[in-house]
Amino acid sequence: MTKTIFEIGLNGRSGDYVPASDVPAEGLDLPIERTGPIGLPSVGEQDLVRHYVELAAKNYHIDKGMYPLGSCTMKYNPLMNEEVAGLEGFTGLHPAQDAGDVQGALRLMHELERDLCEITGMSAFTLQPVAGAHGELTGMMIARDWFRDRGETDRRTVIVPDSAHGTNPASVVSCGFVPKVLASDERGMVEPAALRGAVGDDTAVLMLTLPNTLGIFERDIAAIVGIVHDAGGLVYMDGANMNALLGIVQPGAIGIDIMHLNLHKTFSTPHGGGGPGSGPVGVRGHLADFLPVPRVVEEKGRFRLSGESSKTIGCVHRWNGNFNVLVKAWAYIRRLGGRGLREASENAIINANYLMKLVSRHYRVTYPGPCMHEFVASGAGLKPHGVKTLDVAKRLLDYGLHAPTVYFPLIVEEALMIEPVETEKREALDGFAAAMEAIAREAAENPDLLHDAPVTTPVRRLDEAGAARNPDLCWSGECAGD
Ligand SMILES: Cc1ncc(COP(=O)(O)O)c(C=O)c1O
Repeated sequence: MTKTIFEIGLNGRSGDYVPASDVPAEGLDLPIERTGPIGLPSVGEQDLVRHYVELAAKNYHIDKGMYPLGSCTMKYNPLMNEEVAGLEGFTGLHPAQDAGDVQGALRLMHELERDLCEITGMSAFTLQPVAGAHGELTGMMIARDWFRDRGETDRRTVIVPDSAHGTNPASVVSCGFVPKVLASDERGMVEPAALRGAVGDDTAVLMLTLPNTLGIFERDIAAIVGIVHDAGGLVYMDGANMNALLGIVQPGAIGIDIMHLNLHKTFSTPHGGGGPGSGPVGVRGHLADFLPVPRVVEEKGRFRLSGESSKTIGCVHRWNGNFNVLVKAWAYIRRLGGRGLREASENAIINANYLMKLVSRHYRVTYPGPCMHEFVASGAGLKPHGVKTLDVAKRLLDYGLHAPTVYFPLIVEEALMIEPVETEKREALDGFAAAMEAIAREAAENPDLLHDAPVTTPVRRLDEAGAARNPDLCWSGECAGD
């Protein structure tokens, strides 16, 4: 086990590379002044750097290898984005600065909003929500206030297909609506006749993940939108998977009323460990007045924040959301341009279909597609050998690969949700498929190899439930240092 930074500290050993201060010491003369050591470890610069390099080498990360984790986060994090977002002109801003001092930042937000409108075909966007699920909640609040404004308070049901992302029903409930689950048909899609049977006078919204969590585009989308609109409801699109649709489908043009985007999934802004993310919400014209405020407005080439809106749902996050995430998305969109964005989606689709064909030789793919940017395989065929999907995922670590998302979506038994994304080369896809094939063979010939996996990683199989429910994250021992 690697020692913690506290354990490698030694009294008296420290970085003496900082020159002694030539400013006379001044006591603060305050009751909060420190009187004893604060328990920071004493280590030299070299030990410090080596310690963190060693830790980073133990970890698996995108700079080390492929990340076929279905759903949830973008796996391409261009270094250029980091550089742009790290410019002092952006990081040195204070969110309460006067509009006259921050014209560049306001302009960037304005341009990003216009870009997102053009990409999606929506009329207006708010950049405030700081996660996909936060965007969903914002969208549901907009729908709620829209119906309230029309005096249709009996519309309380939100239809959520069983192929939706797990956060969707949670957002529905958090906003005071009641979710109604709609089963997918044998194609993994919403069946128009079933939807027709589900809508009624109480229908507020259909909340559709598109492409859905099986990686499938709803072939009957025109009929689906029509059925909901005819019933007086709104169509919400969970657009977190928009990385499959850039330049191909404009949700606004097919009648979607409200949608969110995961900038951290579609526009290259990382979202590890739960944040910082960004889930902008777009609406078509009839709902624009309900968007959160403040919003950036342009007047004769100058930009300011405006809170003027009589129907707004209010503010859902102060200081316009996670600004530096917006900078990264803006940089990515500007760098690729319209054609580049379309190519990114096309490559994501090609990669996913190529990999699906290879993987389906050894694992069941219940809904064989064609898929969009991701697909769901199943480890159920390995059950006769006493092997589960979790064992496959753990064994992949021994092959030096990151595991796919497992056990989601729930409608696929022993699910393995695989998303290669647009930037992986054919060799990487072939390598992943070869590892999956080898593991399927091992499952039949020597299943214990999988039960014991991983055996080559710095730590062996973890107690995942224990780690999630009883995390032990605080150092509480003795620290050599001051
Ligand atoms: C389809 C879909 N919807 C919603 C979300 C929720 O996004 P977030 O994790 O930013 O809340 C995700 C990713 O987690 C997703 O893949």
